[in-house]
Amino acid sequence: PQIVVLISGNGSNLQAIIDAVAAQKIPGSISGVISNKADAFGLERAQSAGIPTVVVTANKGEAREDYDQRLAREIRALTPDCIVLAGFMRILSEAFINEFAEILLNVHPSLLPKYRGLNTHQRAIDAGDKEHGCSIHFVTAELDGGPIILQAKVPVFPEDDAGSLAERVQTQERQIYPLVVKWFCEGRLKKLNDKAVLDEKEL
Ligand code: GRF
Repeated sequence: PQIVVLISGNGSNLQAIIDAVAAQKIPGSISGVISNKADAFGLERAQSAGIPTVVVTANKGEAREDYDQRLAREIRALTPDCIVLAGFMRILSEAFINEFAEILLNVHPSLLPKYRGLNTHQRAIDAGDKEHGCSIHFVTAELDGGPIILQAKVPVFPEDDAGSLAERVQTQERQIYPLVVKWFCEGRLKKLNDKAVLDEKEL
């Protein structure tokens, strides 16, 4: 299977997937990495691994649908079997999501359904949560609302700030995202009737 990874920044999740492919833990190959930011460090990670990169920058005043059409064209050219959103910080339009819904995965830095959207670590601290974490899910038109595939929990300590908590959560993201991509590439993970199904069992 061919994997396309979409990023906007550091690309530590991308790196974890590059490493898992190189170690043959994921039975697939990354056909390209696409960023909406030209200065995303993840582009360098991809280039170091010999993976083709594409930058699709939003034009000033460009409608979301128009941007997404340009993005979709670049993605189709890379003939993906699996699309991995890895810190891709744009909301996607419904037409885009509908086209790729069966193969579109995302990582979100909270224990969904808690804390959809941004600033999840600070929100968990402010709420006094003792537990926080991350979720891998299929993407649907509902923002951060698609069927959950796998989550990892971390403790929240009294001395945590958003930075220390983010670090603890991201360490877990780098563990569970490659595992989910592996399942998907093995053909064991599917989206059926808006549910995530692993080895024929509903998650
Ligand atoms: C991750 O924490 C992801 O959950 C969030 O953005 C961060 C991206 O990190 N949405 P990286 O670019 O993969 O290092």
